[in-house]
Amino acid sequence: MPKSEDLVFPRREHVEDRRKELGHRKLLDEFFDHATLLAVSRLVNQGQFDSLDHPISIGKEGGVFRATKGDAFRAVKVYRIGNTTFRRLPDYALEELRHVTSLRNFAGLISAWTRREHSILGRLCEAGVRVPRPFAHFRNVLVMEYVGDAAGAAPRLRDAPVDDPAALCEDLVAQVGRMIRTARLVHGDLSPYNTLYVDGHVVLIDVAQAVGAEHPAARRLIERDLTNFARFFGRLGLTVDPTELLARVGGDSVGPPASGS
Ligand SMILES: Nc1ncnc2c1ncn2[C@@H]1O[C@H](COP(=O)(O)OP(=O)(O)OP(=O)(O)O)[C@@H](O)[C@H]1O
Ligand SMILES: [Mg+2]
Repeated sequence: MPKSEDLVFPRREHVEDRRKELGHRKLLDEFFDHATLLAVSRLVNQGQFDSLDHPISIGKEGGVFRATKGDAFRAVKVYRIGNTTFRRLPDYALEELRHVTSLRNFAGLISAWTRREHSILGRLCEAGVRVPRPFAHFRNVLVMEYVGDAAGAAPRLRDAPVDDPAALCEDLVAQVGRMIRTARLVHGDLSPYNTLYVDGHVVLIDVAQAVGAEHPAARRLIERDLTNFARFFGRLGLTVDPTELLARVGGDSVGPPASGS
């Protein structure tokens, strides 16, 4: 049984680039405190993955790492334990977490947030929306399907060379349409940053803040996000009307049910 510290970047001693090695050490110190290492080692013992290979993306709130499982890969998202994670959380999301844990218990909050992301990914998969399949979660660690190949993780739509914007827009409408009509969810932070691009198709990620389609904030969120997407398509040379996008994804059914009817 390897020591839990050896599960993270186990090949780091072979890294020749000294700067990269220092970078890995810094990440280890920042991300993998004792509790997080124990969570990683528990997931390894469950057979979720063998080791964490390297970071795919490091953000303020957390990092996403590529993991190896046999001859396949998985993606592992680790939320940082610390109050900064929840500074950006909108009130509507905090409101829900307040029911499951005290807002002063950061570890509990992050655990609830990780569980939420896992269950929303599961709900979206069931509805046939293209998102990474969730495999497991424990404390602040989420294990999901890796989007990419051995050469690297899929790029964010924001950074991808799109050759057929019209086909891409159709695909986005289909995915968001399924999300609203079948899963009855609104993403809440849909953007070319939270969308990966694979072979001309979109994969939606970062879903923890999604809300039910009937939520009072849902209509405002979907309108805002589709307006931004319309602007993004505009920059690719495709004119799309955000109101039409909203209608096509089933936006009429988003928002609190009309009262008194
Ligand atoms: N399943 C996955 N497969 C491959 N890469 C992924 C996967 N999930 C996330 N990523 C990569 O990690 C990045 C961050 O993921 P995500 O958006 O879920 O986290 P975040 O907390 O919002 O981080 P950030 O603040 O950097 O956006 C993504 O932009 C993407 O590049
Ligand atoms: Mg993100």
